[in-house]
Amino acid sequence: MKHLLLMFFLVSFSTAQEIDNSFITQLEYGEMLYKNPRGVGCIKCHKKADKSVVIAKYKEIDKKTKKLVEKSIVVPAINKVSFEKFVEKMKADKTESKVMPTYFLTDDELKSLYYYIKNINKK
Ligand code: HEC
Repeated sequence: MKHLLLMFFLVSFSTAQEIDNSFITQLEYGEMLYKNPRGVGCIKCHKKADKSVVIAKYKEIDKKTKKLVEKSIVVPAINKVSFEKFVEKMKADKTESKVMPTYFLTDDELKSLYYYIKNINKK
């Protein structure tokens, strides 16, 4: 069973490696990654990337005043972020953010993803 799983993993890994993305445009490839980046799709939180989005609201007791305060989790717009900042964020580990997941994308994938984010609203 273990071998079978390993085989499956190797086969799917090698076919994934073989995908030559030249038959789809960088924009299409980036879009694919934005929606399905081997993990939770960026689109689920960042929507169209151009505006900050409130994804959750909650109440919390303020430690000092002991009063209930409204809090919210805001996802920032990402279409104006520089490539350097983008890469830094995408390569940061889990402890950086309590909300955004950690992804394991290759440099090529990051390039296409960034390209897509920059052009997402121009289509
Ligand atoms: C579960 C929600 C969630 C998902 C899914 C998510 N993000 Fe985020 N993202 C956030 C939040 C919240 C922040 C801001 C706080 C932080 O850095 O954690 C953020 C910050 C960022 C930043 C930094 C923006 C800045 O100005 O510093 C970038 C770039 C980014 N996300 C890109 C992506 C990409 C690309 C994906 C998909 C591969 C993605 N995010 C998926 C929630 C999410």
